[in-house]
Amino acid sequence: MNTDTNKNLPEKIPQHVAIIMDGNGRWARARGLPRLAGHRAGTENLREILEASAEFGIKYLTIYAFSTENWDRPEAEVTGLMRLFTTMFKRELKNLHENGVQLRHIGKLDRIDTALQQQVNEAVELTKNNDRLILNVAFNYGGRDEIVHAVREIIRDKKKPEEINIELISKYLYTADSPDPDLIIRTSGELRSSNFLIWQGAYAEWYFPSAYWPDFGKEELRKALFDYSERDRRFGRVFTGDA
Ligand code: FPP
Repeated sequence: MNTDTNKNLPEKIPQHVAIIMDGNGRWARARGLPRLAGHRAGTENLREILEASAEFGIKYLTIYAFSTENWDRPEAEVTGLMRLFTTMFKRELKNLHENGVQLRHIGKLDRIDTALQQQVNEAVELTKNNDRLILNVAFNYGGRDEIVHAVREIIRDKKKPEEINIELISKYLYTADSPDPDLIIRTSGELRSSNFLIWQGAYAEWYFPSAYWPDFGKEELRKALFDYSERDRRFGRVFTGDA
């Protein structure tokens, strides 16, 4: 670990950072390249951000890799993205495992190609005891879909109305084992939540850099952490001493 670099960090580091990796398509178009070249560049950048997150002391990183709505993209792009995920898993898993990253999946695997489903499950199993960084991969994930899924499971488990509260619902979400995100970053200047962690992000701080995802590197992440450290998180309360 590079301690020189770590000196240049704010004291307050968010425990859980979540990222909407937006702007791959525009990054590619700006260079006259096909959209998939943007996704490939985005994948390379993910590696940089993963390493930086571990180095900066972030414990949980959640990334929006593929939404329940992304199926509506042109077939060639969906197929290309699935191939990219497959390659990424094959190429990076060993390295992630050796670096203490625990992979978790949030979302539904049912529409995914069975070979890729198996890869995801094996990766989760292989890395389940790692604890340097927890990487939640939101893959075929949608926040509304997650809540529907939770409600169905709660009914299946025959919970009584009096038993239903915020903690119980949180336990039925795909993110049951992760704390709520402290900081959510959406790159590329878009100002929407796009169905990402809509329950868990209720009190998250948001950060909207203009950089497209492939250009949001380690130094951009550092800037986001400094910005976060300046925020006053009140969770709906006022500070004591305020009139
Ligand atoms: C959004 O950019 C990006 C996606 C829908 C895909 C994100 C996937 C990656 C970065 C690949 C790496 C992930 C893993 C887990 C291997 P966009 O296509 O919406 O860009 P645009 O808004 O500029 O068109």
